[in-house]
Amino acid sequence: MIMLADMINDYVKDSPAYRVGITMDDVREDYVLADFRDDICKMNENENLLGVSPKAVKAMQETAVLCNYYPEGTGKALRRKLAERYGLSEYHYMITEGASVAINVIGEVFIREGDEVLIPAQSYGAYGNTAKRFKGTPVYVPMRGDKGIDLDAVLDAITPKTKLIFICNPNNPTGMALNDEELLDFIRKVPDHVMVVVDEAYFQFIRREDYKTALDAITEENCRVMVIRTFSKVYGMAGARVGYVVSSLEVIRYLSRMVNYFCTNKLALAGALAALDDKEFEELTLSTVREERIYLTQELEKMGYYVCPSDTNFIFVDLQTDSMKLCEKMQQFGIILRGDYDYTRISIGTRKQNQRVIEKLKEVLGK
Ligand SMILES: Cc1ncc(COP(=O)(O)O)c(C=O)c1O
Repeated sequence: MIMLADMINDYVKDSPAYRVGITMDDVREDYVLADFRDDICKMNENENLLGVSPKAVKAMQETAVLCNYYPEGTGKALRRKLAERYGLSEYHYMITEGASVAINVIGEVFIREGDEVLIPAQSYGAYGNTAKRFKGTPVYVPMRGDKGIDLDAVLDAITPKTKLIFICNPNNPTGMALNDEELLDFIRKVPDHVMVVVDEAYFQFIRREDYKTALDAITEENCRVMVIRTFSKVYGMAGARVGYVVSSLEVIRYLSRMVNYFCTNKLALAGALAALDDKEFEELTLSTVREERIYLTQELEKMGYYVCPSDTNFIFVDLQTDSMKLCEKMQQFGIILRGDYDYTRISIGTRKQNQRVIEKLKEVLGK
């Protein structure tokens, strides 16, 4: 008898199942009778804990009644607006259903069987999964002692089989950003047979005013760079699914062949367009994250713990305990943290939420 599994492509069978983060409903169901039931701090997926950009909400509400019509295929209006904001032309941008889909499309277009994909050892999990999905070999490059990405070690790890390098800047889960010149210099040194993907999902949260994005490295002469971004973080649109890739015209032409006929849905496109105009919400998010990042870091340092210097909307802290077990205990108080690393990752919330996290951490850790 032929089993269903025999009919499935090998790369699908070998692909790890997507790890979905714990949701508020999971915790509500587990603790139906607890007094925090309606006051859950969901701090495990680096979402915007201030909410959704109000301008995006209004645009999505207004667009809902137009959903009998298909969305505009490539998100032209959004591409135009992004090009006005960040430079290059609308044809250098490709809209996707979030940065996750962008990573997958890049994998599909570039990774052939046996290609090596270089990934800093502590970085976003989707890179390795994508490499495996397309039969590439993820090669993990050790981090520096301070958990920064070791760009020299990445350069040293390049072989004739290397096809892609993923650099997440600032990096998830460490929260640390690279020095701009260091990154641009690294990109210049990468040989021609290798594509560099710079994931800038958190770039707006970088502390330095003079931060340079890897977009500066994109030219028609050097078409070896792709930059990924998302509306999930600063604009609070993680549930709407919209992100984009920026690269040379030639690369975007190839990537676009593998995007679904509709780049994303009509609500997400309308919301993203409006979010770009929502300076007020962007500023509120950035100033809150900056302030609360300092608050959380200082409180944890006072308790004697090391916190990686964060340039994102989350912190990565060494609580000197089994992180997974700690997170399970925190869930009993309605606080969801990310625990499947050596350190614990905590999304930055409002002052009220952050105070509650600190208070409960003190209780659980006996501080
Ligand atoms: C570094 C990084 N890249 C990509 C993503 C995926 O973002 P999106 O919600 O746009 O799929 C995330 C989400 O947390 C992320 O941390």
